[in-house]
Amino acid sequence: MLILGIESSCDDTGAAVVEDGSIVLSSVVSSQDFIHAKYGGVVPELASRRHIDSIIPVVEEALSSAGVALNDIGGIAVTQGPGLVGSLLIGLTFAKAVSYAARIPFTGVNHIEAHPFAAFLKGRNEDKDVPGFPAIAMIVSGGHTTLLLLKAHTEYEIIGTTLDDAAGEAFDKVAKLIGLGYPGGAAIDRVARDGNADSHRFTRPLISKGSLDFSFSGLKTAVLNFVRSKGSLSPEGIPDLAASFQEAAIDTLVTKALWALEKTGSNDLIISGGVACNSRLRTKAAVMAASVGARLFIPPPKYCSDNGAVAAALGYHQLKKGIIGSIDMNALPTWEGF
Ligand code: KG4
Ligand code: ZN
Repeated sequence: MLILGIESSCDDTGAAVVEDGSIVLSSVVSSQDFIHAKYGGVVPELASRRHIDSIIPVVEEALSSAGVALNDIGGIAVTQGPGLVGSLLIGLTFAKAVSYAARIPFTGVNHIEAHPFAAFLKGRNEDKDVPGFPAIAMIVSGGHTTLLLLKAHTEYEIIGTTLDDAAGEAFDKVAKLIGLGYPGGAAIDRVARDGNADSHRFTRPLISKGSLDFSFSGLKTAVLNFVRSKGSLSPEGIPDLAASFQEAAIDTLVTKALWALEKTGSNDLIISGGVACNSRLRTKAAVMAASVGARLFIPPPKYCSDNGAVAAALGYHQLKKGIIGSIDMNALPTWEGF
């Protein structure tokens, strides 16, 4: 069964064609970074307007590069939340209109629940291990830091979440503070490679022993206070500061992932979302997983950040279970519990 996945929750317009919830025939993402960079963050109104311009060409490209036509598609999966309401409405309204006109069933997917499905994606002739259940999914993105216990493809429990800033938000805010621009996560990752992570010891925000919740605003404030105490940052000091902040943030994520494995007895760990592109997180999570004999799944960066393929993969399992969305245009984006 071929699913057309559509994603427009924030500032990327994504569309993909995925077979049977795993084989990616195409995945097209149109980034808006060049629009929002000069404002230092996503401007919701500009994001929605750009989605309007991009959605049709992105979907057409996804279909044509998969070599399929709309009437080959068996289901449409679209992100219905959480995200920016104006952005979500573009993808959702478009998906409902296509579903109605082409008589293809559609299903609305939760964006956070969809992120870990990156671990199930592969190429047609690719032979790779996929997670089993139960699995821990750590979703680390610009808007969320969430731990899920996945019990089956469409069954999960939220076991941890951030009490304030998301991990990606902390990376973006610190990057802005030290002059690395927006979006800053990838820039911190790059600059930190030339820095000494032991140059400043920032407290790891663990909340309390065993807690699966996160809190990153204190770490961000600690970096701000450090910068203020210095008066100004020399260009040579930036890599050290970036590396020290990154080490504290990544240590926290890896510690919580370990605690989640221990608490639930799960042996499989998926890490996804934009921050999962981070090279230090990839290294430290691999060391941690090896030390406890856990299986670690961190998908390739193109599937960790926002894309339509993860929506299609989750949507496939929802449609198989008969979870079909209403094409009522008055139904608004929803995201209970997130
Ligand atoms: O999942 P995503 O593409 O979009 C959301 O749903 O938010 O995540 C975007 C976030 C941004 O905060 C960005 O700075 C961060 O992921 N990010 C990174 C890296 N690449 C992207 N953070 C740390 N290291 C990276 N290499
Ligand atoms: Zn995301």
